Amino acid sequence: MKLFKTGTVLLFSLVLLIGSSMAWAEGNTSKNAFLSGIHKKNQISCADCHGKSLVVDDNETALNKNCVVCHGTFEKLASKSKEHINPHKSHLGEINCTTCHKGHAPSKAYCNYCHSFGMKIPAMGSAEQSNNKKWTQETTQKKSKTEKMKTENADIVVIGAGGAGYVASITAHDAGAKVILLEKMPITGGNSMLAAGGINAAATQIQKAMGIQDDPAVMAKETMKGGREKNDPELVKILSYRSSDAVDFLISLGADMTDLVRSGGVHVNRTHRPVGGAAVGPHLVKVYRENAAKRKIDVRVNSEVVKILSDKNGKVTGVQVKGKHSGLYTINAKAVIDTAGGFAANNDLVGFYKPQFKETASSNQPGATGGGVVLAEKVGAKTIDMEQIQIHPTMGGETKVLISETVRGSGAILVNHAGKRFVNELTTRDKASAAIFAQPDKSAFLVLGEDIRKSNVQIDGYIVLGLVEESDSIEGLATKMGVPATALAATIESYNKAFEAKNDPEFKRQDMPMKIAGPKYYSIWVKPGRHHTMGGVKINTEAQVLNTEGKPVAGLYAAGEVTGGVHGWNRLGGNAITDTVVFGRIAGANAAKFVK
Ligand code: FAD
Ligand code: SIN
Repeated sequence: MKLFKTGTVLLFSLVLLIGSSMAWAEGNTSKNAFLSGIHKKNQISCADCHGKSLVVDDNETALNKNCVVCHGTFEKLASKSKEHINPHKSHLGEINCTTCHKGHAPSKAYCNYCHSFGMKIPAMGSAEQSNNKKWTQETTQKKSKTEKMKTENADIVVIGAGGAGYVASITAHDAGAKVILLEKMPITGGNSMLAAGGINAAATQIQKAMGIQDDPAVMAKETMKGGREKNDPELVKILSYRSSDAVDFLISLGADMTDLVRSGGVHVNRTHRPVGGAAVGPHLVKVYRENAAKRKIDVRVNSEVVKILSDKNGKVTGVQVKGKHSGLYTINAKAVIDTAGGFAANNDLVGFYKPQFKETASSNQPGATGGGVVLAEKVGAKTIDMEQIQIHPTMGGETKVLISETVRGSGAILVNHAGKRFVNELTTRDKASAAIFAQPDKSAFLVLGEDIRKSNVQIDGYIVLGLVEESDSIEGLATKMGVPATALAATIESYNKAFEAKNDPEFKRQDMPMKIAGPKYYSIWVKPGRHHTMGGVKINTEAQVLNTEGKPVAGLYAAGEVTGGVHGWNRLGGNAITDTVVFGRIAGANAAKFVK
């Protein structure tokens, strides 16, 4: 791009930083209030943003490159921000600028599909504050019925750029296949980007270095027990026995897996995460994005697969894609890998399978709507366990923010509105959620002390989000929580005695890593919310999608939350990321073999 004169740049920056207050006002949707209008007013031409050809691809490549040229990198913008919540330094990582900043429509912060941040962004629209809006794919190009559809070719198309999609793409690419990875949302990462706790794996190099004895056979047993023995035992065996390899694979890509914690329903510290207890998802997605870029894998956002194509024998032959700018087009492929994730964000689908869960809050990203299951069903895939929808016990109050199970794993206790414990905090999620639902107000509080907060960096994030109450005394905390102070003090005293005795006679909690002690005490108000869909398309141990007769749909593979069978009727915390890596690798390797 030919850069315009320095004076113009300075003037423009000034306008964006302090001026344009009219355009920033909520609800101002006149054309001049959009970013394009502001740019035009400052003599910035269409070509300055779009590039000479003015053609916009679905990744909006030129636009985003030019945003950075003029306004600076994420790092630079983040360092300038005075916002309490820094949008350029969020867990979403370095995403397209155009995800939030729109040229020809009101801009809106993507964060607010899940949060309710009050931050202002330039040329913001009136829907800015709403965090309950349904996500709709914006498309700018409509094709006439007679217009010929563009066709491309690839060896393998991967549907959905979450963890399973990236792992399958990287694996297939490294096995020599030409891969196109398609993502319907404006950013990659899916639910994988939100993963807070960690990845379960047994008998890893990390566990061994810490002197922790574990065994894949035990992981399989605990996974089956957690899933109420409804899991596919063959899939569980693969999950468990290849979990250690999965962690090695992640380390080989550059991931940090050096911290260990315990998740519910498990007897040992098996949940691997980055140092300091940092959230695993944003870290892994950063690593995946870097690895895909290094390999020059063709990753396209704003690209929704609307149909899987097959021939008259039922063999999969490619996909039809709806691009935000390119419109409908076809990719012919010798194999397709469906990694389109689950459907816990789809109110209608959840309501259909579990009417009692309709309208409950969901921890999921807005694109977790289950399209991948529907696409596969249309080419013959069998589905299983669709009504098995997991409720996570601890979402932050009235928000969509998940309070990680690792907070309990780090030592927090759950108390009710009477200030009393009521459940083994590290039981499986189905039981913990049911216990909270049985409390008055169907909510509870996590209570923890200073050392526990320090051991889990995610708690600092909840503090920034305003979800944590704190006090120098138990009495002070009880007042803030609205629970009886004497009862809370007695609960903490009794729990600390159980910690010292390494025996919890009341609730049989096995792992009590730290006691609840000051100088500061903290609490988080929590409610259960929709979290994971255990059901999906049926696969075999080769990650081939099976049809209603139990035979593979030729050329179709699947991995991750879009599949059913791995987790049975209740997933253990930390096992989903294992699922994405283990079966993502199998799907990628087998699809690459198939196309050869
Ligand atoms: P996703 O990561 O959801 O990716 C699927 C992608 O496909 C999405 O980006 C979606 O937009 C895209 N897509 C859908 N349809 C289409 C289409 N038609 N065309 C193109 N793209 C499409 N599990 C753990 O094991 N440990 C944890 O710590 C953990 N923490 C979690 C925290 C939160 C808040 C949430 C919501 C989940 C957590 N889970 C955790 C569960 C885990 O993150 C998910 O089950 C897992 O990441 C799913 O990975 P996936 O690759 O199958 O799907
Ligand atoms: C959490 O950290 O509580 C989520 C982990 C998971 O869903 O596996």
